[in-house]
Amino acid sequence: MKNQAAKSTTGLDVLQHCLGPAAGAWPQANGRLMHGTEPLTEWLKRSGQSTPAYVYHLAAIDRQVQAVRAVLPADLHLHYAIKANPHPEIIQHLSRQVDGFDCASLAEMQQVVAIAPDKSAQASIAGPAKSDDELIFAISYGILINVESANELTRIWGLAAEKGKRARVALRINPPFEVKGSGMKMGGGARPFGIDSEDIPALIRHWQANTSEWIDLAGFHLYTGSQNRDATALGAGFRAALDLIIELSQFCDFTPRHLNLGGGFGVVYHPRDAPLDLAALQPVLHEISATAQGLWPGVRLNLELGRYLVASAGIYLTRIVDKKTSRGKTYLLCDGGMHHHLALSGNLGQILRRNWPIVAIDQLNAPCIHKVDLAGPLCTPLDVLGQNQELPQLAVGDLIGVLQSGAYGLSASPNGFLSRPTCGEYFFK
Ligand SMILES: Cc1ncc(COP(=O)(O)O)c(C=O)c1O
Repeated sequence: MKNQAAKSTTGLDVLQHCLGPAAGAWPQANGRLMHGTEPLTEWLKRSGQSTPAYVYHLAAIDRQVQAVRAVLPADLHLHYAIKANPHPEIIQHLSRQVDGFDCASLAEMQQVVAIAPDKSAQASIAGPAKSDDELIFAISYGILINVESANELTRIWGLAAEKGKRARVALRINPPFEVKGSGMKMGGGARPFGIDSEDIPALIRHWQANTSEWIDLAGFHLYTGSQNRDATALGAGFRAALDLIIELSQFCDFTPRHLNLGGGFGVVYHPRDAPLDLAALQPVLHEISATAQGLWPGVRLNLELGRYLVASAGIYLTRIVDKKTSRGKTYLLCDGGMHHHLALSGNLGQILRRNWPIVAIDQLNAPCIHKVDLAGPLCTPLDVLGQNQELPQLAVGDLIGVLQSGAYGLSASPNGFLSRPTCGEYFFK
């Protein structure tokens, strides 16, 4: 019995496996998650904060940035894709550590200009169906526009001429291939994103022939998918992307000055999944930058990462409000749910829902030997927090924490659904 318990997974095992080196940013003592010298549970109570809540340890971001920087060649710049978590504290914190920002809306560009004005020259905006307001803002602040269609480029030209300011643009390429292993694919086949690679030469020729004082065609952007933990597949994707860019550029006699190769680095959401082997990516990244610099000296190379930089910095805390048995199944009913954490419920682009890493924040050393289902407060069967989730014995009033919740959490969820109360976000340095 003793041996059996010793072999069982604990919350600490889950935390360490899923977060890797970033686990060290989450202080623990006596099997409890801490805030400084105080258990997190006590801190919430004492400071009058309620659940559900997101808590963030910004030190976890630093560890992720350092890990990525360690494998990047000096001339491969690291940008943060704000969509992963647009909270101003996160943008502010990252502004001191990254080389630029990838935006997906007017509000995200405004955040960059307000929080990190020195980085607006190294900001870009991508995404289909950009509004005139977004394009005008980007043109005014010299933000690079990743163009998603030939029509969009014509609109940019018109708006730039009206404004009397040259627009900086990169053509976002929809390649003829998909990258294996991405949890969410955004390139290959027919897509709303980017311009089909076969249509790129005609577009370059058109804009070169009409060398426009209003369009500065700086280069290319390619983003093929998110949440990829397979270093071999990611490496092959980067090589294929560069090969395609070389072919297109040589075919059109075009010299790119800017290349954004995307990223899509994945994190561990499941205790049995292997982490992305960053070291295995290092040679490919160095080779790519050497090839690009050899062909186009001084070309600016960017990666834009979201999830990988911020996921491990956030934990979603929710309290057990009720416990019941339904036809043999134990349910823990919680005050938090899909209105704050859509991805946890499996409804943010996943084909099959998988359990997330959830820990009992005051029992990190206890064996996870009880299988329970966890549901939120919404009147829909979609509001799932965990199914057959292994946890220690838990009671009404206990707090659980959903790890890896720093990316695509609150801002990627239907906060207004059922008019439930909003959710606090607390930042620890
Ligand atoms: C164009 C673009 N860049 C960057 C990202 C960030 O991806 P991730 O969070 O997987 O790093 C996305 C995510 O959808 C994207 O669409």
